[in-house]
Amino acid sequence: MSYKEAFESAKSDPEKFWMEAASHVDWVKEPSKALFSENAPFYEWFKDAQVNTCYNAVDRHVENGKGDQTAIIYDSPITGSKGKVSYAELQEQTAALGGALQAQGIEKGDRVIIYMPMIPQALVAMLACSRIGAVHSVVFGGFAANELATRIDDCTPKAIIAASCGIEPSGVIAYKPLLDAAIELAEHKPETCVVFQREQLTADMIDGRDVDWNASQVGVTPAECVAVSGDHPVYILYTSGTTGAPKGVLRPTAGHIVALNWTMKNVYDMDPGDVFWAASDVGWVVGHSYICYGPLIHGNTTLVFEGKPVGTPDAGTFWRVISEYNVKALFTAPTAFRAIKRVDPKGEFIKKYDLSCLKTLFLAGERADPDTIVWAQDHLGVPVIDHWWQTETGFAIASNPWGIEKLPVKLGSPTVPMPGYDVQILDEAGKEVADGEMGAITIKLPLPPGTLPTLWNADARFKSSYLDAFPGYYETGDAGYKDEDGYLYIMARTDDVINVAGHRLSSGQMEEVLSGHPDVAECAVIGAADALKGQTPIGFVCLNSGTEKSNEDVIKECVGLIRSKIGPVAAFKTALVVDRLPKTRSGKILRGTIVKIADGQDYKMPATIDDPVILDEITAALKAIGYPKV
Ligand code: COA
Ligand code: AMP
Repeated sequence: MSYKEAFESAKSDPEKFWMEAASHVDWVKEPSKALFSENAPFYEWFKDAQVNTCYNAVDRHVENGKGDQTAIIYDSPITGSKGKVSYAELQEQTAALGGALQAQGIEKGDRVIIYMPMIPQALVAMLACSRIGAVHSVVFGGFAANELATRIDDCTPKAIIAASCGIEPSGVIAYKPLLDAAIELAEHKPETCVVFQREQLTADMIDGRDVDWNASQVGVTPAECVAVSGDHPVYILYTSGTTGAPKGVLRPTAGHIVALNWTMKNVYDMDPGDVFWAASDVGWVVGHSYICYGPLIHGNTTLVFEGKPVGTPDAGTFWRVISEYNVKALFTAPTAFRAIKRVDPKGEFIKKYDLSCLKTLFLAGERADPDTIVWAQDHLGVPVIDHWWQTETGFAIASNPWGIEKLPVKLGSPTVPMPGYDVQILDEAGKEVADGEMGAITIKLPLPPGTLPTLWNADARFKSSYLDAFPGYYETGDAGYKDEDGYLYIMARTDDVINVAGHRLSSGQMEEVLSGHPDVAECAVIGAADALKGQTPIGFVCLNSGTEKSNEDVIKECVGLIRSKIGPVAAFKTALVVDRLPKTRSGKILRGTIVKIADGQDYKMPATIDDPVILDEITAALKAIGYPKV
């Protein structure tokens, strides 16, 4: 089948297309049909089925005689340790932890927060939850206690599973004090915390609440896989929105299994048994879909890598891992390649390893700049496939459909919409624009299986965030265009989401935090172009009159405030004290114009600007700290 045929068949007969994809899943009770539209615009797929995610990701492979195959490879250059977990061992481990959770009173539908670094136990925790029908919510380790508290209050977990620490190049990061502080801050209190003690740091335990990962599993009955209905949430994953409160993206069980299994072959061209490596983190959607669930459901071997592309110990780490474990496809964010290229521009480390096993490099998470793609192509000698998706969709909206048909690569484009996604570029009035013209990138409803049906406990917010702007369409929040061959180009966000090192952050949320500083009268945060991270945030703060502190002190406090309230992941290191912010006459801050100044781009003087002189002041302030940088 060609790409066009696959795309058309998903469009003209979605029932047939997705029921065929569903036939590769092991059901407890098969779905009677694919799409359930009765609660539209909340679309649901395979709703009347009964199924279990962990069974499909683990047990069925053991039952099919693949128990000895490696499910997870663990490689941690940062701690100097390595290991392998077979499918049979993974079954044992998920059953044991699932049994321990059940013994703590966790049942189908209960929420469990997971706060763990890149160790195999993070996957065991996710799978153990899905084994017993509990709904997990993984929180990235680089978030501060306050962010963890927000998520605790939103999804009200009965239990939290955490590791004692994470390990970053800067040193050991104690997770347990962050967890304790978050529970202290939150209104909702979990009943149990299961703590995995790493050898690098033993956490203090709180009597009556905390239980040890190993001890909790002793003597418990191993958990069977609990059947759940097709629409049961397998997980909630929080992502940045326009305001400080993160959005809880809900992932439905059945569509998730069907779609991820389908993508492993059709998008990534992987066959069962192949080694797939997504160099990301379990805290992000890439980690959910392609470190944990996708490869395991499809019977691949997945890689849990605890390290960075550079500095752990050098810019050859990725190549060492690829050759050592026979990796067939690598998936990472362009920023990882920019980091490697900066340290090793000639690719000297690449030459030291036999990379003949590597067939493809997939990039996502942020715009893939042509320089990075060309560098990777030239040095690795494999096709570099940019693909575009988001937390909400859980798998690629647009990609080169590598397992269906290898389409010509066009630099700067993540290629074409995947089957199931009717992507349309609309103008402000909701009319489709001509080829080559920029507009809001939307997807005609319904979205395909595996995508979010709604937000956790927030149907109204789901509608206002995604559906209200263009009735009948899902608004992706990205702007871009299609060319005459139907290739998509993703150019910018239409909201205040910024993308720092492939991490999605909200500049609006950072502004909320800065506004909380007692000396800040008003502020703006923008994302400025950065040669390594894609974008980095810059804060502009105006101080209350009569402030006695020096500008330097206020800046230091602002940087500290974002780090303590949002976390180190925000990479907020630069703030400027300015007298005034450029605004329209109606008082709207001209953030877009500030971005253009910071990036050294030409800009048109906004017709509605209140006082043009302020732009000169902003330009001078940025110049004083070395902007524009790129
Ligand atoms: N736990 C605790 N802290 C964490 C963390 C975690 N899991 N992950 C990151 N942090 C901290 C870092 O230590 C750093 O703190 P610092 O300010 O004290 O140095 C901060 O958060 C920013 O981290 P990071 O964005 O990783 O920046 P970096 O400068 O350490 O590394 C890159 C830059 C490009 C090497 C790195 O971002 C990278 O490898 N990116 C790959 C892309 C990726 O995984 N994207 C995910 C989506 S696909
Ligand atoms: P996240 O939800 O964290 O995965 O972030 C999703 C957002 O990252 C998208 O809406 C885009 O803005 C951006 N993004 C992801 N992949 C790409 C890509 N291949 N090209 C351009 N932008 C991308």
